[in-house]
Amino acid sequence: MTTHAKPVEAFDLVIFGGTGDLAMRKLLPALFRRFVDGQITDDSRIIGVAREDQTYANYRERVAEALDKAIHDKECLDKSRDAFLALVGYRPLDATKDDGWNDLETLLGGNDERVRMFYLSTSPKIFVDICQRLRQHNLNGGNSRVVIEKPIGHDLASAKSINDAVGDVFDESQIFRIDHYLGKETVQNLLALRFANALFEPLWNAAHIDHVQITVGETVGVEQRGPYYDNAGALRDMVQNHLLQLLCMVAMEPPASLESDAVRDEKLKVLHTLKPINADNASQMTVRGQYRAGAANGGSAPSYQEDLGGKESTTETFVALKAEVCNWRWAGVPFYLRTGKRLPQRVSEIIIHFRDIPYSIFSAGSGTINANKLVLRLQPDEGVKLWLMAKYPGPGGLRLQSVPLDMSFAEAFGVQQPDAYERLLLDVVRGNLTLFMRRDEVEAAWRWIDPILAAWESGNDTPKSYSAGTWGPSASVALIERDGRTWHDGDE
Ligand code: BG6
Repeated sequence: MTTHAKPVEAFDLVIFGGTGDLAMRKLLPALFRRFVDGQITDDSRIIGVAREDQTYANYRERVAEALDKAIHDKECLDKSRDAFLALVGYRPLDATKDDGWNDLETLLGGNDERVRMFYLSTSPKIFVDICQRLRQHNLNGGNSRVVIEKPIGHDLASAKSINDAVGDVFDESQIFRIDHYLGKETVQNLLALRFANALFEPLWNAAHIDHVQITVGETVGVEQRGPYYDNAGALRDMVQNHLLQLLCMVAMEPPASLESDAVRDEKLKVLHTLKPINADNASQMTVRGQYRAGAANGGSAPSYQEDLGGKESTTETFVALKAEVCNWRWAGVPFYLRTGKRLPQRVSEIIIHFRDIPYSIFSAGSGTINANKLVLRLQPDEGVKLWLMAKYPGPGGLRLQSVPLDMSFAEAFGVQQPDAYERLLLDVVRGNLTLFMRRDEVEAAWRWIDPILAAWESGNDTPKSYSAGTWGPSASVALIERDGRTWHDGDE
C-alpha cells in the first residue's frame, strides 16, 4: 500500500501543557505517525512547554516512554524514534509569569513566514495569559496559529469571554478550535457518503427518514479526570460539542464547497434551527443519569461517587435527549442523542432510520418488514452498514430477513484508520479550518445547551441512577419508546 501523504511545510509547534495527558497520549503519538509517513520533515520543531524545570533530555525520555505505550509497531518505533525525538525540544515556562518568554521569543521569533502553531492543551483559565504574552512577544503575527481544546467555556458567557480574549490577540482565521470528533474518519466519510454519491441525498429528508439516533457510549468511568468532569458533566463534556457537531454534519444542507466557511455556515444554520429545550419541556425531552456500582467490563465497577473518592455529587454521567431541527428538510424527524460513561460498549454510531414501506405485498408468513437503516460507525471498526430486507435463501416459502450490506473501512481499503489528531494537526499546518469550529458555532451550541442546564438546576429532581455496565437509566428507554421507537442495539 503506497502512502498518498504529501509532506506539509516545515513548522514550529509549541505545545503548552506539553507534559500533560493529551500531549503524551494523543498529540505526540499522532505527530510521530505523520513523521513516519513522511509528512513531517526533519526541519520542523515540536517544543513542549510546561512549568516543570527539566532538561531537553528528560523531556525526550518522557516522550519516548509515551511513544512506547502508544505505538504498537515496535519495528517502526525502533527505526524512527530517534529521528523523531531530534525534532522535540522543551522549555520550562509558567504562562502567568514573565520568566522564560524572552527565550521562547528568541527561539521562534524573527521569521514570520514560518508556520508557528501554539497548541493550548491547558486549563482554559490560562488561555488568556498565554495569548496576551504571545502578543507581548510578537508571536501572534504572520503565519502564527493558535489551537484551543475544549472545554471552550462552561456556559455561553464564559465561552464568549474566552473567545473575546483569544480573538483580541489572534484573528478568527488564525484560531483553530478543536473538536476531535470532526477529525474521525467516519465523520469525514459522512461528507463523502452524502455528497459524493447520488444515492442518498434525494432520500435525506423528512419524506424518507423517520428519525436519527446518535449514540456515543464509553465503557470507562471518569478515570483521573474527576475534578474536571464533576464540574462539567456529560452534557457539557460531550453533547455541547461532539454530539452536536455530529448532528450538524448529518442535518446540514449541502455546502457550496468544502471551503471552511461554506461548511461552517451550514452547520451554524442547523444549530440555529434547533428547537429550544427549557424548563417547559426539559422533563419530556431529556434524561440525565449517574452510574452506580455494577458489573462492568467483565468485573465490578465502582459508582461515580466512589470514583470521585467518596464525594457526593449530582453531576450527570449520562444524557439522552430528543432534539428537533425545525426546518423544511427535517420537520417532524426527531434526533435522539445519548452518551454516557460506564455503558456496556465503547461505540459511537449515527443511525439513519428510514421510513417504513408504504404497503406490503408479502403475506404475514414472510415475517416482519423492518425499515431500512444506515449505520455509520465512528468507532470501533469504522464503517458503514446499510440494513436491507432480503429473502432468506432456499425453499420454505418467501421468508424475509433484515441483512446488512457491510463495509468495514479497514477491510475495504486495507489501511489502518488514522487517529483524529493526525488529520487535525496537519490541517492546522495547512491552515485548513474546515474541520474546526468557528466562534459563532461554539456560541450557538452553548445558547442551546444553557437553558437545558438551567432547567435541570431549577427542577427538583437529580440524575437517575443506572447500574454501571448498562445503557443508562430506564427513563432513557422510555424517552424513545414513548414515540413508538427503540434504541438501535447494534445487531439488527
Ligand atoms: C473527550 C471527553 O472530549 O472525548 C472525554 O472530554 C471523552 O470525556 C472523550 O472520554 C471521548 O473521545 P473518544 O475519541 O475516545 O470517543
